[in-house]
Amino acid sequence: MAILVTGGLGYIGSHTAVELMRAGKEIVVLDNLYNCKKSSYSRIKALTGRDFPFYECDIRDRKGLEEIFAKEKIDCVIHFAGLKAVGESVQKPLEYFDNNVNGTLVLLDVMKRCGCKKIVFSSSATVYGVENKSPLTEDMKVGGVTNPYGRTKYMIECILQDLYKSDNEWSICLLRYFNPIGAHKSGTMGEDPNGLPNNLMPYITQVAIGKLDHLNVYGNDYDTPDGTGVRDYIHVVDLALGHVKAVEKAADESGLFIYNLGTGKGYSVLDVVNAFEKASGVKIKYEICPRRAGDLDTCYSDPSKARRELGWQAERGIVEMCEDSWRWQSNNPNGYPD
Ligand code: NAD
Ligand code: UFG
Repeated sequence: MAILVTGGLGYIGSHTAVELMRAGKEIVVLDNLYNCKKSSYSRIKALTGRDFPFYECDIRDRKGLEEIFAKEKIDCVIHFAGLKAVGESVQKPLEYFDNNVNGTLVLLDVMKRCGCKKIVFSSSATVYGVENKSPLTEDMKVGGVTNPYGRTKYMIECILQDLYKSDNEWSICLLRYFNPIGAHKSGTMGEDPNGLPNNLMPYITQVAIGKLDHLNVYGNDYDTPDGTGVRDYIHVVDLALGHVKAVEKAADESGLFIYNLGTGKGYSVLDVVNAFEKASGVKIKYEICPRRAGDLDTCYSDPSKARRELGWQAERGIVEMCEDSWRWQSNNPNGYPD
């Protein structure tokens, strides 16, 4: 039996594919290549020394999905496929609802028809919205989201909860990620954003390599120790290992499970700049700019539920996250080859 990894050539999906295979699992990967390069497939195979089926397919393509389920013995899905840029989602809400929500509905319907009732879903800390105070716990009220991307995550969480209520043979794991950064130790896999990065770490690494002149620090007047925004950065390999534990949980018991995947520690933008300089030996030029619309001052997890119930906790610290991001960027200045 195999695990279908949707969006499995993307940033988090590719690292998870590696850790699943290292844990001895069989995988099948699906991706429409919208936000990744096909060469990530070769890199995963080279790293693990294992072959596995890859399908270029969109999760909204019902016929394509049915063919994959008919051909492969899939008993569980890890569902990463989705669009994820907050700013873009404000400009293109219909594309986000169609891709993320409609795509998930098609996927769930095909799974149901094929008798596959186990799914691990990539949710986000964004569902906690603006009203909850960190450290965020899974029992807090969710849904006060401020942008279409976040709303798609919240809506999919609601759909999955209703699905479980309708049929409790399902095993559904909602994983709320905090801020994934870092890259595989080998320096052969990492985050490869298209165009100008939206997120902090890829922006820093592109300044370090000389592609961008300086980092814009969005605000130094937040209610935080140094005034810059505080987030819970988590190494992408720790995040990937959380998925291995989650699929094992889903395989063992039916139920609706929700876990934060974070470290429980908050670092400010300037803490990350300092850690990166220490890890890379490269000075990062930055300018303080006005706040970015929609940003919170502080967002970090209480990850203790995942530790108690999954036996998982993040092991890699901020300097290691920076070292690995830098190794990836400096070995691959232009990201994955075409
Ligand atoms: P990513 O863009 O690198 O990976 C997503 C992959 O899904 C890409 O390879 C893309 O080509 C593919 N894809 C998109 N739409 C598809 C579709 N309709 N059919 C098939 N494939 C499709 O993003 P990532 O950072 O690896 O994120 C993975 C998941 O985790 C996403 O759902 C994202 O919303 C969620 N998430 C990410 C973060 C983060 O900061 N990176 C935080 C919280 C949640
Ligand atoms: N920041 C800068 N300059 C930049 C980019 C970011 O100062 O060029 C700051 C932000 O203001 C924030 C921190 O760095 O204080 C982190 O910003 P990111 O854009 O890297 O991450 P966010 O916390 O804003 O958002 C991320 C994902 C979202 C997800 C959210 C919660 O991008 O998809 O985490 O999970 F919803």
